[in-house]
Amino acid sequence: MKQSIKSFVRARNRLSKINRNLLNQSPIDSFCRVEHFNGFDLSQSKQKRILEIGFGDGENLILSALDNPEASYYGIEVYEMGVANILKAIECKEISNANIILGDAIEVLEKNSVEDYFDEILIFFPDPWPKRKHNKRRLISKIFLCDIKKILKNDGVLIIKTDWQEYANEIEQNLKKTFEGYKKSVDKKSNLVTKYEKIALKEKRQITRFETF
Ligand SMILES: C[S@@+](CC[C@H](N)C(=O)[O-])C[C@H]1O[C@@H](n2cnc3c(N)ncnc32)[C@H](O)[C@@H]1O
Repeated sequence: MKQSIKSFVRARNRLSKINRNLLNQSPIDSFCRVEHFNGFDLSQSKQKRILEIGFGDGENLILSALDNPEASYYGIEVYEMGVANILKAIECKEISNANIILGDAIEVLEKNSVEDYFDEILIFFPDPWPKRKHNKRRLISKIFLCDIKKILKNDGVLIIKTDWQEYANEIEQNLKKTFEGYKKSVDKKSNLVTKYEKIALKEKRQITRFETF
């Protein structure tokens, strides 16, 4: 069933001309918009595959891709500025193991027919919707987790971090309904700190980390 309420609000055209051109005529082969996405490519090598959903400014994806050249990284993000920034970083750092999709992750997963594909799926600080009235906008629903489970390998792991306790409770309820098991822990400062992780740490909010098995 298609989710009509989105987990994001599109920022009004604040993209510079350079960034707009970059998204419209990117020289990077491993970038596509969701409109042109036809599914993950099974012919690609069987090396470790990691997907990050909602990568924001992309700091985790870029550093991880540089640190692990033998793995293939995939990122889905709807925020155009974040995608433009990551495309610039990919080009200037000559990163060849990062694939980027611009668009709604829900739509991407709906269009994909490949199963059993990723070793790791990461969702860090999934959305800025802490208020109860915004619950319907939350990305991590039971349906979404079912789609995630399909593209995870049998021994693959899903890692989710959130700094909103009430959202953590909801995620936990949905994980119970979809995955065989998971570990829940309080996350201390990690090596790679994303923008929203920094905000959570600065505002002294506890970070809950889920890892499925
Ligand atoms: C709170 S930010 C966190 C960004 C980053 N992960 C971090 O830790 O700094 C949530 C991100 O998820 C993205 N997002 C929300 N819903 C999405 C969706 N349905 N598909 C793709 N990205 C989405 C937003 O555009 C935003 O960049």
